[in-house]
Amino acid sequence: MQLIDTHVHLNFDRFEADLEAVRDRWREAGVVRLVHSCVEPAEFAGIQAIASRFPEIAFAVGLHPLDAHKWTDSTREEILALASSDSRVVAIGETGLDFYKADNKELQKTALEAQLFVALQLKLPVIVHCRDAALEMAGLLRDFWDRFGAVKGVMHCWGGTPDETQWFLDLGFYISFSGTVTFKNATGIQESAGAVPEDRLLIETDCPFLAPAPKRGKRNEPAYVRYVAEKVAKLRNVSLETLAAQTTQNACQLFGLPVTQSSEIPDGALKAAVARAAL
Ligand code: NI
Repeated sequence: MQLIDTHVHLNFDRFEADLEAVRDRWREAGVVRLVHSCVEPAEFAGIQAIASRFPEIAFAVGLHPLDAHKWTDSTREEILALASSDSRVVAIGETGLDFYKADNKELQKTALEAQLFVALQLKLPVIVHCRDAALEMAGLLRDFWDRFGAVKGVMHCWGGTPDETQWFLDLGFYISFSGTVTFKNATGIQESAGAVPEDRLLIETDCPFLAPAPKRGKRNEPAYVRYVAEKVAKLRNVSLETLAAQTTQNACQLFGLPVTQSSEIPDGALKAAVARAAL
């Protein structure tokens, strides 16, 4: 079984001490590819360094809406240049709107639109963060599509109702579920996870945040995407294997990731484990 964790932040301090062990666990869990998100362009070199250590990692570059205060006249050019500089870049983001406690909504929209332009120009998908802003987001995207053309993308760590989910499906987006879908009170999210068409469904951890049940409250890590997969499979009445195969194919499709041979990563992990045991 192969899984793809479509949203990770492994460059955060909380992974510094034990990233090799974290890697061993994701390989054991069947995670064959990961998409590393980016909250500001200053992270780029650090993310590149991590991807150089772990070849299954592809990554994005962008500015998170909660960092919108860092947006300047040159940020668009910076993101464009970085995204063009490395063939491992598979997306622009994460960008979006976060209106929970926001006092800079217009600036967030400016940064989002500019990043949509970069994505359009480079024919890359966008990774979209959307909190308390589904209506404004759908309106902004519809308007952008009408004026300039559609951009591919994913609503990441999705927390919307089935109605809101449909708005973004209609815009052509993929919908990605994280550990929040496993939380007891998450009935709206669970309903959405059951309703997304199988060819638009993705899974992620958004680690180190939002660890799924039964790891809730702990540091999240890519291996736990398996708990997300198990929960979403149950909600959709399909087997874990079916869910894994479908979401892996979708992630490869959206991000242009190479499809892996079934034994490619697990064999490597096995050899590494054998080598460690022999020491
Ligand atoms: Ni994120």
